[in-house]
Amino acid sequence: MEEKRILCIGLVCLDIISVVDKYPQEDSDTRCLSQRWQRGGNASNSCTVLALLGAPSAFMGSLAPGHIADFIVSDFRKRGIDASTVSWQSWGDTPCACCLVNISNGSRTVTLYDTNLPDVTAEDFQKVDLAQYKWIHWEGRNAEEQVKMILRVEEHNRSSPKEQQITISVEIEKEREDLYQLFPLGDLVFVSKDVARSLGFSSAAEAVVGLYPRVKKGAHIVCAWAEEGADALGPDETVVHSDSFPPETVVDTLGAGDTFNASVIFSLSRGQTMQEALTFGCRVAGKKCGIQGYDGII
Ligand code: ADP
Ligand code: FRU
Repeated sequence: MEEKRILCIGLVCLDIISVVDKYPQEDSDTRCLSQRWQRGGNASNSCTVLALLGAPSAFMGSLAPGHIADFIVSDFRKRGIDASTVSWQSWGDTPCACCLVNISNGSRTVTLYDTNLPDVTAEDFQKVDLAQYKWIHWEGRNAEEQVKMILRVEEHNRSSPKEQQITISVEIEKEREDLYQLFPLGDLVFVSKDVARSLGFSSAAEAVVGLYPRVKKGAHIVCAWAEEGADALGPDETVVHSDSFPPETVVDTLGAGDTFNASVIFSLSRGQTMQEALTFGCRVAGKKCGIQGYDGII
């Protein structure tokens, strides 16, 4: 039997990346070192990393027909990512981001145009054949619809034997109250440093302990904290930590978090422990920070 896929649901956009060696001054006119188009968006980037790690992956999100979508679809195909569940919208624009990557410190400055394309709905998700997936990951966006999608998977899990059940993970990255309703829904919850900080925590360890009461019984919570690595907490109530693995030179941190999430999911989906998964996540994300783009992360 074919290995079941990991489905990531969320944003796909076009990243137009300009690589600079110095952050430009406002209203200046300078040259960049290089420029490239790259398929972006958290869920879409995580699919890229899963594919590079060798896991069959699939993406679900919205696109508007046109040149940008053609580029994105052909890139999904090139990577072997199943994009058959993409929802084609009849109005709106495919989201597009202007990204400045500074190779002298790896910083990424993103301005994303992500306003008018409807996100996938619970109705779209109703058409998804759950039997194809062993894991579904949601990037928190239109949370109310996403809650309904997750409830469908929970229902499926209740009526299925163990080997057909689907692991549910969610990412809460943006500091938006409406996204916090996803905390009690994931078997695995990724919470970002920005959300953790905005809720008053000053380290990943503090955040996983402080936010643990919000997750469901038996779930794990994970928080990555850039150069400080990442921490996790699960039902055994022991905080697990991994240091980061800084590359010799940090040149591009765009998508480091998406790389980390995908690598943790990959590792856990192959039966590894949370300690192994965190260490693997930090190792792969560290490698990513040392290269432009994703090719070469393993
Ligand atoms: P993002 O801001 O892209 O969401 P994070 O800052 O949360 O990502 O980092 C995710 C993971 O990537 C961290 O846990 C760490 O392992 C790795 N990472 C990020 N920045 C660096 C860095 N400067 N050096 C080494 N590893 C890093
Ligand atoms: C990286 C990323 C980029 C995209 C932006 C959207 O995490 O997904 O690919 O432009 O974030 O917020």
